[in-house]
Amino acid sequence: MAFVAALLLSSVLYFSAFSQGNALSFNYYTKTCPDVEYVIAQVVRKATMKDKTVPAALLRMHFHDCFIRGCDGSVLLNSKGGNKAEKDGPPNVSLHAFYVIDSAKKAVEVICPGIVSCADILALAARDAVVLTGGPTWEVPKGRKDGKISQARETRQLPAPTVNISQLQQSFSQRGLSMEDLVALSGGHTLGFSHCSSFQNRIHNFNSTHDIDPTLHPSFAASLKSICPINNKAKNAGTNMDPSSTTFDNTYYKLILQKKSLFSSEQALLTIPRTKDLVSKYASSKKAFNTTFVNSMIKMSSITGGQEVRKDCRVVN
Ligand code: HEM
Ligand SMILES: *[C@@H]1O[C@H](CO)[C@@H](O)[C@H](O)[C@H]1NC(C)=O
Ligand SMILES: *[C@@H]1O[C@H](CO)[C@@H](O)[C@H](O)[C@H]1NC(C)=O
Ligand SMILES: *[C@@H]1O[C@H](CO)[C@@H](O)[C@H](O)[C@H]1NC(C)=O
Ligand SMILES: *[C@@H]1O[C@H](CO)[C@@H](O)[C@H](O)[C@H]1NC(C)=O
Repeated sequence: MAFVAALLLSSVLYFSAFSQGNALSFNYYTKTCPDVEYVIAQVVRKATMKDKTVPAALLRMHFHDCFIRGCDGSVLLNSKGGNKAEKDGPPNVSLHAFYVIDSAKKAVEVICPGIVSCADILALAARDAVVLTGGPTWEVPKGRKDGKISQARETRQLPAPTVNISQLQQSFSQRGLSMEDLVALSGGHTLGFSHCSSFQNRIHNFNSTHDIDPTLHPSFAASLKSICPINNKAKNAGTNMDPSSTTFDNTYYKLILQKKSLFSSEQALLTIPRTKDLVSKYASSKKAFNTTFVNSMIKMSSITGGQEVRKDCRVVN
């Protein structure tokens, strides 16, 4: 057990070297805020009982945070004065449930004021979200600091749902993440919802010879078209990522193999043998998916970048 922990820890330290950030550790708050994880988990659990869409929102929020300026809580900051923050940038339709992080921060400030960063709260809440939906659990390394900068235009650095495999590879490798991490973390799409705009490119005017992306399963494409007609006026129209969208499982990979994934960027995982083989592996082994997802989450959430412990997750100190 201690051996496994030591192995994990050394990989965490190794990955934070990538981002020249803060040194993370599993026992970061053991002395300064021993109940922090319990308090956050209670807040996330209560919020999830009221609203089943909360876990997906927290998981995506953490991904979005880590991919821009490292996991530094930049996604949590509000726009201020002339500065438009990340949360007001283009992919914002999918960001919600910020209030859950506010509640968790409030509860944590009561027991240990000024100690726990918003970036750590979000990383822990994302882990709790996976656990609450039936996924694996793991120890989250802690000690992230919060950043002071959040700019809407930087959300362009997030991979778009229209990108191909080389663009995905580039986006992940720039952050020290491998193709295995790419395929395992894509499994986050076992949870949540997508708006029509994220897959519109595949079902209307795909290219000059095909109205519909021929790599989409025909009856699935037809159902997407009926949910998202071309002159769709319903701003909130869309569909669940996976029929079991509130359960963390490996169904998502089975759907990719059946050509029933929503985004071009997901279909792209089948376009080269390396990622195609990983999709097949996770589709057939829940255990392999569990293990790799956990390792990859630890890697992604160890990209650090902040400087302070914010008092309020929405504003810099
Ligand atoms: C590989 C590149 C990725 C792309 C191109 C991508 C793209 C997207 C898009 C377009 C949406 C739907 C937004 C909307 O229309 O509302 C979405 C939702 C989501 N993504 Fe990703 N994503 C990627 C990776 C990830 C990762 C690494 C995670 C977490 C481990 C993640 C977790 C989620 C979740 C949970 C949702 C549902 C959000 C909700 O229902 O509130 N995604 N993603
Ligand atoms: C989302 O971003 C768009 C484009 O930057 C902006 O016009 C819109 O006001 C934002 N919406 C929200 C709810 O922040
Ligand atoms: C995946 O992880 C969950 C939670 O740790 C566990 O209950 C489940 O049995 C695991 N599944 C497999 C096949 O290992
Ligand atoms: C992926 O898209 C980029 C940008 O459009 C393009 O330059 C590249 O050739 C494409 N790669 C593949 C493998 O299709
Ligand atoms: C349209 O896309 C299909 C499938 O990717 C492809 O076979 C076809 O050549 C494309 N047509 C044009 C004109 O690019």
